[in-house]
This record gives sequence, C-alpha cells and structure tokens, in this order.
Amino acid sequence: MGKVGLGVIGAGRIGRIHARNLKYLIPGAKLVAISDIIEEAARKVAAELEISSVETDYHDLLQRKDLDAVVICSSTDTHAQIIEEAAVAGKHIFCEKPIALEIDRINQALVTVKKAGVKLQVGFNRRFDPSFRKAKQLIESGEIGTPHLVRITSRDPAPPPLDYVKVSGGLFLDMMIHDFDMARFLLGDEVKELMAVGDCLIDPAIGEAGDIDTAIVTLKYKNGALGAIDNSRKAVYGYDQRIEIHGSKGTILVGNKTPTEVVLHTKGAISGDVLLNFFLERYKDSYLAEMAEFIDCIRNNTEPSVGGIDGLVSVQMGYAALNSLQTGKFVSID
Ligand SMILES: NC(=O)c1ccc[n+]([C@@H]2O[C@H](COP(=O)([O-])OP(=O)(O)OC[C@H]3O[C@@H](n4cnc5c(N)ncnc54)[C@H](O)[C@@H]3O)[C@@H](O)[C@H]2O)c1
Repeated sequence: MGKVGLGVIGAGRIGRIHARNLKYLIPGAKLVAISDIIEEAARKVAAELEISSVETDYHDLLQRKDLDAVVICSSTDTHAQIIEEAAVAGKHIFCEKPIALEIDRINQALVTVKKAGVKLQVGFNRRFDPSFRKAKQLIESGEIGTPHLVRITSRDPAPPPLDYVKVSGGLFLDMMIHDFDMARFLLGDEVKELMAVGDCLIDPAIGEAGDIDTAIVTLKYKNGALGAIDNSRKAVYGYDQRIEIHGSKGTILVGNKTPTEVVLHTKGAISGDVLLNFFLERYKDSYLAEMAEFIDCIRNNTEPSVGGIDGLVSVQMGYAALNSLQTGKFVSID
C-alpha cells in the first residue's frame, strides 16, 4: 500500500508528539487531520504542522475515506469508546495507555476490535526505548543466564496537578502501569502474584484526593523469578528511570540519561548533568519507534508487538496492586 493516512485524536501533550513524528519523521505515514474537543488545541497543533483539516468532533474524522488509522491521545476516559467506534469504521488503531480503567470495558473494546479485524497497538512506548530493548535482547540471548531478580525504579520529577490526579485512576493505573508492562516485557513471562505497599508521603492533598504518591510492589513471576518496582511522584533531581535484571550468570544495569556525558572532576567532588526532565525528553526515541512500528504493521499487514492483551494485563496488575494495598496480602493476577 501507499502512505498510511492518519488522524490524531487529542492534541494535548502526547498527541502533539505523535502528530509531529507522523508528519516529519515517519516516511510511510501521511497525517491528514487533527481532532480535539478544544478547537484551539487542535488548531494550534494543525497550524504548527501545516495540517489543513481540524475536527472538534472525532466522529467526523472517522467518516473520512482518506484515513486508514487513528492515533488516540485523548483523555483516558474516552479511549474505549473511540476504539470501538474506530474499529467499526474499519480504521486501524493506536491507543495511548490505558485502554480504559475498567476491566469489563477493556474486554468489550477488545472484542469489538477483534470482530472488526483491525489492528490495535497500545502505547507502551518504553518497550521501544533502545536501552530497555537491548536489555531484553541480552536476557533472551542468555547473557545473564536464568533471570532471578528484576528491579524497576520509576520516579517523576514532580507530582501532576491535583485535577489530573483525581481522574488518573491512581498511581498504580496511571504511573506504575508502564512498569507492570516493562516487568512482563523484560522476562517475556507473566506475573503470578504481587504485593503492594504505598503511602502518601509527598503531598497530603494527593491523599485527600484518594491516591498515594509513593509505592513499592513485589512481584512473583510464573517462572519463579522475583521482582520489585518502586514509584515516587517526586524526585527532586529529575526523572529517575532505572532497571536492573540480575541472573545466574550476571546482571544488566540500565541507568539514567543525561543531556550530556560531561563529568566534572574537582578536588571536592565529581559531578555531571542532572537527569533529563521528564518523559517527553527521556522517551523521545521510543515514541518515534513505537509509531514507526504501527505504520509498518499496517503497511505490511503484520500484528503490533504490543497489543490489546498487554493493555488488559497491565490494568489487571494495577487492580491487583490496589487490592493488595488494602488487604496487605499477595494477590494473584487472573
Ligand atoms: N505513553 C506515555 O508515555 C504517555 C504520556 C502521557 C500521557 N499518556 C496518555 O495519553 C493520554 C493523554 O494524555 P496527555 O498527557 O496528552 O493529556 P492532555 O490533557 O495534555 O491532552 C488530552 C487532550 O485530549 C483532548 N480530548 C479530550 N476528550 C476528547 C475527545 N472526545 N475528542 C478529542 N479530543 C479530546 C483534550 O481536550 C486534550 O487536549 C492519557 O490517556 C495518558 O494516560 C501516555
């Protein structure tokens, strides 16, 4: 086929990144339209990227014949509905995480997608980060023998606005969901059960909004390996993203990224750059790579490597963590 015609739905933080990549950096893609319920938001991105078509109602976008696929970047509570309507309209779908905050709603959307026979890729971009990808390849090629321990550290530079916290689904479903997916991705194995501890240690207002801002989750994999994920909504030194996989023959360490590799040595200290500020900078390469894969899958009629089941299991793990937080016990993943 020729170029894949695409529309981006939701012109916020992440929508803008995907739209820019589609317009300028993915040769097989043709960005045709931008939609946002806030016309001003859609117009701003469209003007920046010289896209003439702006829709405030995404239904108008789904009618278009020059559109093969949609990229759903709207607020989480709209994803499942748009997935279903896009599938029925015969459009392939890239959807940001999470598919929905309710398991039933996810299942329903996945059935509709399957019936329609369209492709669905879920935005677990970290799987496409070159360092995490290499770590997975090293594990698969047996470099560290049998994996015994997976440690994932994921800390934001600062908590999101309270309005965001209130509708985010909470730390496990909004933030740790990426780490749950990474834990599965790295070992190519499912987590059998998990246990969570968490608290509100950064801002009492987050607690008043019913959420936590600090958590540790312990994982037991089906293959016997163990894992631990720690999340904090505030790391004063920047966006802290590290992974360690320890196995019978060695350990893989994936460290943080900094803007430069310059290190200053003086009599009193050795110092370097602070960390990249947040996800848009740290995961820039991965956003491009995941979208390039989506376009390739459509053009070559292959299945995306991260699909609906991954979207579902990560949310199931989030609910298991919430359940464990309340009961103080290990909870199995269905
Ligand atoms: N993969 C990642 O790293 C990553 C990073 C950030 C956000 N996300 C996910 O992406 C989604 C968007 O997050 P964001 O930070 O860009 O939010 P945002 O608030 O910056 O942007 C969302 C946009 O969607 C628009 N919108 C809402 N309902 C709409 C509808 N029915 N039709 C069209 N537009 C609509 C809003 O007006 C807003 O402009 C969330 O689901 C979030 O979980 C993923």
